[in-house]
Amino acid sequence: MASRTYRIVTLPGDGIGPEIMAEAKRVLASVGRAYDVEFACEDHLIGGAAIDATRAAGGPVSALPDETLEAARAADAVLLAAVGGPKWNDTTPGAVRPEQGLLAIRKQLGLYLNLRPVRVYDALAQASSIKPELLKGVDVLIVRELTGGLYFGRHERNHDVPGAAMGGGAGDTALDSMEYSELEIERVVRWAFDAAERRRGHVTSVDKANVLETSRLWREVAHRVASEHPSVESEDMLVDNTAMQLVARPAQFDVMVTENTFGDILSDEASMLTGSLGMLASASLGDGTALYEPSHGSAPDIAGRGIANPIAQVLSVELMLRYSFGMDEAADALAGAVDDVLAAGWRTADIAEETTPEERRLSTSQMGDRLIEAFEARA
Ligand code: NAI
Ligand code: MG
Repeated sequence: MASRTYRIVTLPGDGIGPEIMAEAKRVLASVGRAYDVEFACEDHLIGGAAIDATRAAGGPVSALPDETLEAARAADAVLLAAVGGPKWNDTTPGAVRPEQGLLAIRKQLGLYLNLRPVRVYDALAQASSIKPELLKGVDVLIVRELTGGLYFGRHERNHDVPGAAMGGGAGDTALDSMEYSELEIERVVRWAFDAAERRRGHVTSVDKANVLETSRLWREVAHRVASEHPSVESEDMLVDNTAMQLVARPAQFDVMVTENTFGDILSDEASMLTGSLGMLASASLGDGTALYEPSHGSAPDIAGRGIANPIAQVLSVELMLRYSFGMDEAADALAGAVDDVLAAGWRTADIAEETTPEERRLSTSQMGDRLIEAFEARA
């Protein structure tokens, strides 16, 4: 009997989802053996798979069935692969779409913080559009606020505003308002400072305090939280400068914390430092069950062929070990295993170079084998 059991709801979803999830589960089993923990994984339906199943059952069609949500709420963590595909591209108004399942589960779990670690592997630095010498040692943790800001503020569209036509437009005006409460700011900033204490001890708080009132509040809160973390060095950086610094000197960042819209844009920008979608994981945390998933989609173009890269899914497991289960040592060993496998030249098709020899080219499950082997050598 293992000393502890964690219940994980696994959501393979669509496309390559089931293929990469299978490898993540094998990795979890290996971690469990090495650290005397049982990970009890239970598959549930989401996305297109849920749409098909609920339609076949003759009940209401849903991309997030109630039983999936209930299981997720009761679990210790949720591991999601990806949803969507051309089969469900029904654009008729009112049609249920796979992506609705994603948005719904994130909302229903009350996730208020999104983490996107961006680590550049020396072995893959050539794949980036940035000069390899600038990428040495890049390891940024982007902490993005998820519940506030422009996406959830007041939205309005006024048609035919008197006088507006003078500008030559059609006369419509639209408004999205950015709104933040101290509580929303403080919980993510505090999380970022706590994370920095366990990393390299540096926080960059990104805002636009020279023009935005919400950013001035953000800065006040960030300074207060900073004063409670004397061992962490911190700085404020304006978002436009940050966008520049990310491509000019990316290695300067450790933990970056910012509001919703800025985080959306900066995390996509930062992800391109790695040059490879199949390598990026993310975590969304709230007060309840956390959700872990790769940043990429369901890759329908390569689904069913056993050639998808499982690394982003496996790195989602790494984040789960770290942030849901406090198993930092196991997480470090798993991250190290990814380094080792890449350094030894093993490649799935998406990250292979022209010079990669035939015998180093791997299928999805062969990459799973190599990762497990490398993990077991370190654990
Ligand atoms: P995508 O991320 O699925 O694929 C983009 C390109 O990257 C494709 O050429 C794909 O083959 C490749 N790729 C992605 N992940 C890979 C992996 N692990 N290994 C090897 N190659 C990989 O994005 P796309 O094509 O825009 O969307 C496809 C479907 O996925 C759509 O239905 C979209 O709505 C959905 N999607 C779902 C997301 C999620 O579940 N979180 C996020 C993004 C898109
Ligand atoms: Mg985005």
